[in-house]
Amino acid sequence: MAKKRIAARRIFDFLPAFLLVSLFVAGSAAHAQTEDQAWLRYTGAHERTSIPASVRALGNSVLEQSAVRELQRGIAGTTGTTVMAAANATNAGEAVVGTLDEVRAAFPSLQVPAHIAAHGFWLKRTLWHGHPLVIVAGSNEHGALFGAFDLLRRIATDADLTHLDAIEAPAMPIRWVDEWDNVDGTITRGYGGRSIFFEGGKVRDNLTDVTTYARLLASVGVNGCNVNNVNDAAPFLEPGMIKGLARIADAMRPWGVRLAISVDIASPQKVGGLKTFDPLDPDVKAWWAAKIDEIYQQIPDLAGVTVKADSEGQPGPASYGRSPADAANVLASALAPHGGVVLYRAFVYNNHLDYNDMKADRARAAYDIFQPLDGHFAPNVIVQIKYGPIDFQAEEPVSPLFAGLHQTNEAMELQITQEYLGQQRHLVYLAPLWKEKLDFDLRAEDRSTPVKKIIEGKTFSQPLGGMIGVSCVGRDGWLGAPMAMANLYAFGRLAWNPNLSAEQIAAEWTKQTIGTKPEVVATVDKMLMQSWQTYVHYTGFLGTQTLTDITGSHYGPNIEASERNGWGQWHRDDAKGIGMDRTVATGTGFAGQYPPEVAKMYESAATTPHRQLLFFHHLPWTYKLHSGKTIIQYVYDIHYQGAAEAAQLGDEWATLKGKIDPQLYEDERARLEYQAGHAIVWRDAIVQYFLKETGIPDALGRAGHYPGRLEAEDARLTGYKIVDIKPWEDASGGKIVVCDQSPAQKTCTAEWTYTGKPGRFNIAVQYLDLRDGVAHFTLGINGTEIVSWAADALFPSNLAGDTSTRFTARGPDGRGIELKPGDVLRVEGAPDASDPAELDYIQIERNAASAAKSATKGP
Ligand code: GCU
Repeated sequence: MAKKRIAARRIFDFLPAFLLVSLFVAGSAAHAQTEDQAWLRYTGAHERTSIPASVRALGNSVLEQSAVRELQRGIAGTTGTTVMAAANATNAGEAVVGTLDEVRAAFPSLQVPAHIAAHGFWLKRTLWHGHPLVIVAGSNEHGALFGAFDLLRRIATDADLTHLDAIEAPAMPIRWVDEWDNVDGTITRGYGGRSIFFEGGKVRDNLTDVTTYARLLASVGVNGCNVNNVNDAAPFLEPGMIKGLARIADAMRPWGVRLAISVDIASPQKVGGLKTFDPLDPDVKAWWAAKIDEIYQQIPDLAGVTVKADSEGQPGPASYGRSPADAANVLASALAPHGGVVLYRAFVYNNHLDYNDMKADRARAAYDIFQPLDGHFAPNVIVQIKYGPIDFQAEEPVSPLFAGLHQTNEAMELQITQEYLGQQRHLVYLAPLWKEKLDFDLRAEDRSTPVKKIIEGKTFSQPLGGMIGVSCVGRDGWLGAPMAMANLYAFGRLAWNPNLSAEQIAAEWTKQTIGTKPEVVATVDKMLMQSWQTYVHYTGFLGTQTLTDITGSHYGPNIEASERNGWGQWHRDDAKGIGMDRTVATGTGFAGQYPPEVAKMYESAATTPHRQLLFFHHLPWTYKLHSGKTIIQYVYDIHYQGAAEAAQLGDEWATLKGKIDPQLYEDERARLEYQAGHAIVWRDAIVQYFLKETGIPDALGRAGHYPGRLEAEDARLTGYKIVDIKPWEDASGGKIVVCDQSPAQKTCTAEWTYTGKPGRFNIAVQYLDLRDGVAHFTLGINGTEIVSWAADALFPSNLAGDTSTRFTARGPDGRGIELKPGDVLRVEGAPDASDPAELDYIQIERNAASAAKSATKGP
C-alpha cells in the first residue's frame, strides 16, 4: 500500500501555492513543536520604559522561579532589552514577584490589598524610595505566576503600564483541559498528530513537550490537565503506568498545572481482579481507597479524576442498579483525604433509542438522569456538563441541566478540538459559540441566572465549579493548525474571566501571535469573529445540528447518517417537513426541562430563536420564518451564502500578504482555499438533497443548476467508469467516475469540448482524494498539459464528503486560463494503490483578476 506523502509534489511549477493544500490535510505539516507557534512568541518592539531592569523573586517557590524566568524571557523578546534576575533588592528600581504576604514583609510601609481570591494577583507600578517598583503579587505562588503572564500580555498588547494597578482573580476554581490520549499514542478526536504524553503503551521518555504545553496552559490561567481518554481508561491504573503518570505530573508542576486522569469505573474488576465493580460493594470501596492512596504516594498533588460511565459502551453503575451519585461518591471519599475532586460527566445516554418512538429523545437524558440526584453528590464531586444537550454541535441550545442542579457543583465541558466543527481543516473561532452559552440566561427561579454564574458556583452558592476544554493537542503544532490555537487561548481566558468578550480575546491573541499593526488585527479579528456562523451557514440550518456523518468521521456531509439509528441525533426530515418536536404539548417534552420562562420561549415556534427552530419544532418546508422566507428557501439561500462567506475568508486573508509572517500567510492561505472548496461540497450536498426530497424549486434558480460545471459522467471517458456514490448527495448529480481497476488502468481520461464564451477562466477540478494511495491528476487543454498535482492528502475517511477536494488552476500569475469554443479540456487520472483517481466534475469560473482588469479598461 502506498503511503500518503507529507507534502504535495509539484510537477509543473508555474502555478505556485495551489498545491500547499495537501500540506496540512496530511496532518503532518512539519511545524516545530515549540511554543513559538502559539501566543508566547514574545516578538516585536514593545515599549518597556515602565519596567525596571531587574526582577527578583521574593520567595523560594518553584512557581515564583518560573515566573521570574518567564518575565526575563518575555521582556527580552517583546522589548529587545535584557532584564537581570537579582537575588537581592537593588537601589535602582526593580520588579518583584511574590505572594501578598511576601510583599508586605519586603515593603512594610506599602499599601497592599488585604485579600485577593485564590490564584488571583495584584499588579502594581509604584515608587519605592524614589525608584520605580513593579509588583507582581499573588494571593499565593500560583497567583504570582498568573500575574507574571498577565504583565507580559499587557506588554505584548501595548497596554499603558504607567499607572498599572490591577487586581484579578479567576472566576472559577476548576479550569482544566482534557486530553483524549490513548496508551498507544493515538488521540481520539485529535487533529494535531500523535500524543505528547504516551507512545507504545507507556509514557514517553522525553516529556519536554509536556512541560512546554503546561507553560502555554499556565499563561492563560489553566490549572489542570487530564491526560487520558475518557474511553478505555483502565490501563492507566496499572502500577507501571502510575509511575509514568507521576513523571507527567513532575513535567507540568513547574507551571502549576496539576495532573488529572480519567478512570474506568470497572477498574476494580479490570485492574484489581475483583468479581464486581459495584460501587456500593465494600471490597470495591476499599479497592478504590487503596488505589487512590497509591496514586497520591507518587503524585501528591493529583487534581482529581474524570469519569465517563454508562455512556457509549463504557461500563457504569447502572449495571448494578446504582446511580451516578453512588459511583461518584465512592471515588470522592477516596479522593477527599488528599484534596482531590471527581469530575463526573453528565454525558450519559442510551445510544440504542427507537427512532420510531416519537417521544424518545437523547437530548432529555442528562437532565432525566442527573436532576433527580441533585443534593446526593459528595462536596468534592463536580458534575461535568457538555454545553448542549447533544454533543458539541455547531448549533444546539444550552443544556437545561445547568439550571436543574442547585445543590451540586457544576462545570461546563466544551471542545477546543473541532470534532464537529471542521477538525481544524476549517477555520472556526469558537469563543463566540462558548460566549453565547456562558451568557445564556436560564432564568432559574425566575431570576437572572446566566450559565457562567452557575458554573462559577455563585448562583446556587456552590464551592466548586468551572470549565473543562477537551483539547486533544498533539505533536504537530499542538492543534495541527496555527489559527486553531486561538481556541486554546480563548478557552483559558474565558475560564479565567467569562465576562471577556470574544472580540477582545481575538484581538489579544492576534496581537501576541500574528502582529500588532491595526489593519492586521482588524482583518484577523473580523475573520475569526465571522468564522463560526460561516461554518454553520454551510453545514446545517436552523438547529438541525451539523448534518455530518455522525456514526463515523463527523467531518463531511452525510445527511441521512443521523437518521433511523439509535444515536438520537435525529432531525426527522421527509418530503413534507423537518425538525424534532421537543415541545411539551406534542413532542418529547425536552423544552419543559428548562425553567419556566425559557421553556415557554422554546414551546412555541413563533418565539423560538431561528437558529434553534428545528431543534425544538417539526415544521413544514413551507413554514414562513420571520423574514417571510420559507424554510426550504432559507436552506438554499443560507448554503449559498455560507459558501460565499467561506470564499470571502480567503479574500480577507489575501489582504494580509506582505504584512505578516510569509510562512503563516502561505499556510493559512492554502487552508482557506481548501475550506472554500469544501464549503461548496457541503453547500451542494445539502441543497441537492433537500431539493430532491421536497421537490420545491429554489426561487433564485440556483439549486440543481450549476453554470460552468461539466460533469465527469457526461465526459468522453477512457478507462473511467461511472459509479453511484454513497451518500449520493456528496457528489454532483450523485455520480462520479472511477478509474477501472479490472483490468487495472495506468491512466484514465475524461474529455469535454468547451462551448462557452471565449475568455480567461479558472478551472476547478473536483476530485476525491482517498486515504490509501497517492493518485495523480493532470489537466490539459488541446493536448497540452497545464498542471499536474498529487492527491496526497489524508482525510478522516474514504467517504465522498470527507475526501471531495477541489484543485483550482488559475493560469500563469493567476490571470486565468484562456479558453475558446471548441477547445478540448482533459483531465487525466493516474490511480495508485487503493486510490482510483476518482473525479466528480470540472467547473469553469470567471477569473477575478482578468474580470477586474477588463472592468478597469473602460468603454
Ligand atoms: C463524542 C465523541 C466521542 C467521545 C464522546 C465523549 O461523542 O465523538 O469520541 O468519546 O463524545 O464525549 O465521551
